Amino acid sequence: MRFDVLTLFPGIFEGYLSESLLKDAIERGALEVHLHNMRDWANDKHNTMDDRPFGGGPGMVLKVDRIVPCVEEVQTYAERPGRLVMLTPQGRPLTQRVVEELAQEERILLLCGRYEGFDQRVVEILQPDEISIGDYVLNGGEVAAAVVIDSVMRLIPGVLGDENSAVVDSFSSGNRLLEEDQYTRPREYRGLTVPEILLSGDHGAIERWRLSNRREKTLARRPDLLDGEETKIDEDEKKKKKKRPKKAKEPELVAESENVVEAKPSETPEAADATENNVDV
Ligand SMILES: C[S@@+](CC[C@H](N)C(=O)[O-])C[C@H]1O[C@@H](n2cnc3c(N)ncnc32)[C@H](O)[C@@H]1O
Repeated sequence: MRFDVLTLFPGIFEGYLSESLLKDAIERGALEVHLHNMRDWANDKHNTMDDRPFGGGPGMVLKVDRIVPCVEEVQTYAERPGRLVMLTPQGRPLTQRVVEELAQEERILLLCGRYEGFDQRVVEILQPDEISIGDYVLNGGEVAAAVVIDSVMRLIPGVLGDENSAVVDSFSSGNRLLEEDQYTRPREYRGLTVPEILLSGDHGAIERWRLSNRREKTLARRPDLLDGEETKIDEDEKKKKKKRPKKAKEPELVAESENVVEAKPSETPEAADATENNVDV
């Protein structure tokens, strides 16, 4: 996947692009991030990119006759023009569903504003996908562009060590709920212990605990996420259970998000012990 970031301050991205998962993904060729300094499209001796707003008012506005040629030229830098995203507090909110939608693209251009933002004719001419990262105002679109890259890259195959984490994370396609409580060693710390069920090696019971923990937490913190979702899960579970043929020694069914999947047979005590030592369930 290719990102092209159009910004007046490309230096902001240097540290971010050279660390951790993003650095690894770029080095492995799973991801390309190209930075373009929009000021290179200023065509006067003062490198002017902005001007005072018509009608008066505070601040400066990014000029349409600089931004449009800049975007149009960058669009030609690859085989396809790509999807143009404008970062703006007035855009549609960035949610995990929007992130999943963006992750389907081969190429995304991220247009970062500054000052009072863009001349409205930039929007009319280029018709970008206007995206906001939240109901607050940042100084510029660079941090918002980094948020888009960071959230989208997690869904690109080969970027995360375990592809499944992006499915079971909070808000994600697994069930759209908040993720369940997580624990690792030690088993006990300052009198606080890990829920016994997680040490049992019984995958069916662990999955049931996880689902119930996700639901309880989501209900307490973000009941809005449950709108229709919980009912849907319950109905799906009922349907699957009805269809289930009766067999002797059938493995236990475990609700995994919207789907019902077969649990692995319970582990031997040795395996459970190994699970506890590796804490990699
Ligand atoms: C100071 S803001 C301009 C705000 C604009 N005057 C308004 O009130 O809607 C400058 C730039 O920061 C970026 N920005 C600020 N808040 C943002 C947000 N919540 N989401 C995405 N981008 C944002 C945009 O690129 C914007 O053009």
